[in-house]
Amino acid sequence: MKKKLIIANWKLNGNKVSILNFLNLLNKHDIEEKCKIIMSFPVIYLYLAKTIIYKKNIFLGAQNIDVNLSGPFTGEISVNMLKDIGIDYVILGHSERRKYHKESDTLIAKKFELVKKANLIPILCVGENKEEKKLGQTQEVCARQLNSVISICGPQIFNDTIIAYEPIWAIGSGETATPSSVQKIHRFIKEYIKKYGFVNSDKISVQYGGSVDENNVAQLLYEADIDGVLVGGASLNYNKFKKIIDIVNAF
Ligand code: PGA
Repeated sequence: MKKKLIIANWKLNGNKVSILNFLNLLNKHDIEEKCKIIMSFPVIYLYLAKTIIYKKNIFLGAQNIDVNLSGPFTGEISVNMLKDIGIDYVILGHSERRKYHKESDTLIAKKFELVKKANLIPILCVGENKEEKKLGQTQEVCARQLNSVISICGPQIFNDTIIAYEPIWAIGSGETATPSSVQKIHRFIKEYIKKYGFVNSDKISVQYGGSVDENNVAQLLYEADIDGVLVGGASLNYNKFKKIIDIVNAF
């Protein structure tokens, strides 16, 4: 059985004390074998976090990398640096990076390739905005975002990667997409990648993100193609996050 993932995206939140407190509690919490947690703290705290975590099903992820590996790129972090400190996952193409940092599909695809080449696991965020949803363009938008990776790296690159379907209108809005609509698009994403030569759907994990909390996670996970969740706001509160883990544990 494929492991159920819970990815926590802390975005630009937290400090030394809050992260240590959170991880001390998380370390002590029962997490079933079948469940895997990826904590994405701000990059400056990842090394500290690495020294604290001792449970084997808790992993760490970064929220971005630079498109270069080294050189005169002031203020940037490379995938090799993440690898150096033992980080396993990198979120790429989050809608907040697409919007506030003007990241293009092509740039994200190049970063995706770098992460794979470094043997880390990319978590590619895709999803439509409100307008695109209204126009019925959800599949088209996701296909475009997947295509840019396929055209630069080839479809096989999706083996052992994670895709997070995150409708932009659902992020931080308290408005979650319905489980059946998420199921439909997750199926579409898996079929789309398969169509381009990707064969084993066990090798790809598709997560849902967008206002996931302890009250809606169970309904989402009943769907066959929702392999886990990417949690923003609700992951900042340990009690809420613990409830999410307990629900996933029970599946
Ligand atoms: P949210 O964020 O759970 O607060 O909606 C999800 C995300 O942006 O990854």
